[in-house]
Order: sequence, then structure tokens, then C-alpha cells
Amino acid sequence: MTIIVTGGAGFIGGNFVLDWLRQSDEKIVNVDKLTYAGNLQTLESVAGNPNYRFVQADIGDRAAIDALLAEEKPRAVLNFAAESHVDRSIHGPGDFIQTNVVGTFNLLESVRAYWSALEEPARSDFRFLHVSTDEVYGTLSAEDPPFTEENTYEPNSPYSASKAASDHLVRAWHHTYGLPVLTTNCSNNYGPYHFPEKLIPLVIANARAGKPLPIYGDGQQVRDWLYVTDHCSAIRRVLESGKLGETYNVGGWNEKANLEVVHTICAILDELQPRADGEPYTKQITFVKDRPGHDRRYAIDARKLERELGWKPAETFESGIRKTVQWYLDNTEWVDNVMSGNYRDWLKKQYTA
Ligand code: NAD
Ligand code: DAU
Repeated sequence: MTIIVTGGAGFIGGNFVLDWLRQSDEKIVNVDKLTYAGNLQTLESVAGNPNYRFVQADIGDRAAIDALLAEEKPRAVLNFAAESHVDRSIHGPGDFIQTNVVGTFNLLESVRAYWSALEEPARSDFRFLHVSTDEVYGTLSAEDPPFTEENTYEPNSPYSASKAASDHLVRAWHHTYGLPVLTTNCSNNYGPYHFPEKLIPLVIANARAGKPLPIYGDGQQVRDWLYVTDHCSAIRRVLESGKLGETYNVGGWNEKANLEVVHTICAILDELQPRADGEPYTKQITFVKDRPGHDRRYAIDARKLERELGWKPAETFESGIRKTVQWYLDNTEWVDNVMSGNYRDWLKKQYTA
């Protein structure tokens, strides 16, 4: 048996591939376009594993995806591939529409053609799992209850609007064509191999480098943080037992204001790797211009996933953030290669000889 993941060279997809190969004997094929966010160095340790295959392709490339599906005959396709950074979507929304909307459409069409031709029981057993975000629900005030699966979609950024559009396509392909789909809507992830353009890895990298720690606006925006391997276990759970056509919210019950997150990281760094001058890392905090249209608060009610599929996160924010800071201190080469752009050479080094 084989599963295909798209976007497996990114942060969450990469962690998912590593986790999968630790826990399963089933082959996993990773299809990734290798945009700036794709980093095969993350998967260096499994590059020679016979149960792992990497294919460089765009999810929107019908011919490439059709050929891969025919060749690998997967029992499931998990779609992690996306443009994922809100700030980039504000500066240049085009790539977000192209990959998240048009790319997902093309992928759905390839998968539908493949699935329609399957014989039973493979046809009934097949799954398409779409990895999405809590940002599709919009923003919450301090008093609002967390997002449930019943919340209406009110996306506010080009990124979240493109993800919302992709969720709607996935839903429609189930209702219209019967494609066996599952969708997960997850809160903010953090952990190893997180690209240092996002808040947590950026703050760790900048702190180490003696650079400013940029806080947008007043720093009181709230995010609900989930350690990435908990997201991976939730996806595996939904893939195994999720009800077809359903959506599942995934979250860590860890609502934190951005400023509090940054203070926590600074305190851990003060302990693990104090600044040479003995001053606290909080000295590097700098308030900068706010993100346009910045959502104030996200919070996920993950009770459906717990009630129906028995999933709960294993990490608290306190345990997860400590592990994360330690990982970045132990893996400075990975971070430095990303910061310098050297990770882009990895493909050449690894696959041409
Ligand atoms: P990421 O940006 O780190 O990785 C995205 C990966 O997709 C990269 O490897 C990139 O090369 C690949 N990719 C981009 N366009 C592609 C295309 N057209 N064809 C094939 N591959 C392509 O993203 P991430 O943070 O790992 O997020 C993965 C998924 O999870 C996304 O769908 C995102 O919307 C969703 N999500 C992320 C978070 C989070 O906190 N990071 C939370 C909830 C949901
Ligand atoms: O909620 C899930 C989403 O979480 C995912 O769908 C996205 O793919 C993922 O990127 C993430 O989006 P956010 O915009 O919440 O993540 P980011 O790390 O960019 O920002 C987290 C918060 O920190 C947000 O309120 C903006 C703020 N921030 C971010 C950066 C990069 C700062 O204050 N300073 C910064 O430099």
C-alpha cells in the first residue's frame, strides 16, 4: 500500500513524512514543487529509505499528477501543498490563487479520474484528505467562543480566502461526484523545520543573530498553538477513521498573545543560551507596523475530533515550545542554510551526481 502527500518538503508535510516513516511500513510518496518553502534538507535522514520517494511536481500539473497516480496506485492522497504565509499573500496574492485554488482544483480532477477508475474495494477504501486552516473562519473577539466546525467561513486575507476556496472545492467534489474526502482545519503549528519567516522560528533565529524581534501592532493578537507532531497524529487519526465528507477542527487549547509567546521564547533562550552581555533577549523586542487586515484572535474548539475519533494533543505549549527552542539551538545548520539560501542547492547536490 502507498499514500501520496503533496507539499511534503514544507514544514508540516515534512514533519508528517518523517513521522509516517517512524511509525509505519507503508510507502509514502512526496510530491512537491519546491517553492522557496520546500526544503529537502528536512528529509535528508529518509532520502535513502525504500519506503520513501520524492517527486518534484506542481499539484496543478495534470499530466504529471495523472502519471504519478497511475504509477503509484495510492490508497490515499493528502494535500498539504499550499502557499502558506499570510504576509506574502498580502504582497503577492497571485501565487496563492494559483496553487491553493487552481492547483487544488487540478489535483481534485486528477484524483477524481484516478478514483473513478478504481475497482472495489480500492474505490471505497480510497481517501482524499485536504489539510486546511482555522483562518477560513475569520477572526474572533476576546469574548467569542472558539471556532467549531459549524462556524461560517469569513476569510479576511488573500491567503485565508484562497484556502477557503480550496475547502469549498473539496466539499463540492464530495457532494457532486462522491469523491471520498476529509478536511482538517488546524490552528497555528510550531516545532522543528518551521521556515523562519513565521513568528516562532523568526524570533528564535533573530534572537540568536542579535537582530530585532518584530512585533506587529500591539502584540496582543491571539493564536492557538499546536505542536506540529500533534497535528500529524490528528491527520493520521482522521485518515484512519474520519467520516467521509466531514471536516475536523484541530487545535491545541493553547491560546496565547503574540507578545507572551515572544517573552516565553526569550526566557527559554536566556536560560539555554544567555546573551554574551548577560542582558535578557527581551531587549531585542521591537514594535513594528501592524499587518494589514490582521485577524485579532483565532481559537479552535477541537472537541469533535476528541469525541468522535479520540484524538487529543500530547504536548502542552510549555513542553512544546521548550522542545522547539532546543531543536533550533541543536540544528543551527538547518536554520543557517535557510537564512543563507543554501538549502536551494540541496536538490542539485543530492540528485545530480
Ligand atoms: P509550507 O509553506 O511550509 O510548505 C508548503 C509546501 O508546499 C512547500 O514544500 C512547497 O514547496 C509546496 N508547494 C507549494 N506550492 C506547490 C505546488 N503548486 N505544487 C506542489 N507543491 C507545492 O506550509 P506548511 O506550514 O507546512 O503548511 C502545510 C499546509 O497546512 C498548508 O496547506 C497550510 O495551509 C496548512 N496549515 C498550516 C498551518 C501552520 O501553522 N503552518 C496551520 C494550519 C494549516
Ligand atoms: O492559523 C493557522 C495559520 O497560522 C496557518 O494557516 C498559516 O499557514 C500560518 O502561517 C499561520 O498564520 P499566522 O499569520 O497566524 O502565522 P505567523 O507566524 O505569520 O504570525 C503569527 C502571529 O504573529 C500573527 O498574529 C502575526 C504575528 N507576527 C508575525 C510575524 C512573522 C508578528 O507579530 N511579527 C512577525 O514578524
